[in-house]
Amino acid sequence: MQDALPPKLVCKGLNVSVRQELSRLWPRPLGANRRMITIRGVHKDFSIDGAKVTALSPTDLDVRRGEFVSIIGPSGCGKSTLLRILAGLETASGGSIDVDDGDRARQRVGFVFQEPVLLPWLSALENVRFPLDTARVARTEADSRALDLLKLVGLTGFEAALPRALSGGMRQRVSIARALSYDPSLLLMDEPFGALDLITRDRLNDELLSIWSQTKKTILFVTHSVEEAAYLSDRVVVMSPRPGRIKTVYDVNLPRPRGERTKLDPAFHQLMADLRRDLQ
Ligand SMILES: Nc1ncnc2c1ncn2[C@@H]1O[C@H](COP(=O)(O)OP(=O)(O)OP(=O)(O)O)[C@@H](O)[C@H]1O
Ligand SMILES: [Mg+2]
Repeated sequence: MQDALPPKLVCKGLNVSVRQELSRLWPRPLGANRRMITIRGVHKDFSIDGAKVTALSPTDLDVRRGEFVSIIGPSGCGKSTLLRILAGLETASGGSIDVDDGDRARQRVGFVFQEPVLLPWLSALENVRFPLDTARVARTEADSRALDLLKLVGLTGFEAALPRALSGGMRQRVSIARALSYDPSLLLMDEPFGALDLITRDRLNDELLSIWSQTKKTILFVTHSVEEAAYLSDRVVVMSPRPGRIKTVYDVNLPRPRGERTKLDPAFHQLMADLRRDLQ
């Protein structure tokens, strides 16, 4: 299921909901040259006490290079399972995934979890540097990259701080910097701001968009917030209740850069209403 419309049906004046309805009715795979992730028929069954539990029904999805795609759906519909399969943390029961990052020698995927999983005895700088140390990157180069990343996430001056001396939002920024440390082309984020208060979340959303535009990463972002999904994304994937499958893919045709004006845009509110209705 994808966003592209048959060419003759694309016309500028169509309102957002009509375009989305058309794209739902006439899905078409993205052109191969624009695709970075190609997911075909990926599904996952768990076995619990001998009983089969389907966590994810067969799923098809294409993601473009440099695209920001959010996944939203009810609890238990398989969002984390899909991300974990993409990251290689879980094995799919079937189907295929192709991630084309043009450079197979490099680590491909960075993962940011809901809770910042930092090593409590290491400083912010050492936490960010940790994957580089593990990969035996020379100390000077690793330090310089970690310092740049801490600057990118707005933590200059906190290099020596231990995680317990940082706020929740700051810890999550360290996790983002760490996930970016080995320069992955794909960043997977599983409700990264879900545990934060709304003001911090709003701020981090803007920071994430700035990081995304500077680094040109492809981002797959799981959230429970329709506002966050609509604000951040190029496309929003809505999943159905458990066992999850992709129900609808929405194009987000809101201008970039996003900001306060986005939040006043009637199309933004229409999209949130459409997403809420779809999720019910
Ligand atoms: N390791 C596991 N063993 C057994 N069942 C699992 C395992 N991991 C996930 N599941 C089941 O798979 C289903 C999908 O789980 P998943 O964590 O992907 O959902 P989710 O969409 O991320 O939910 P949430 O929004 O609550 O995070 C759930 O029913 C869950 O119980
Ligand atoms: Mg989850």
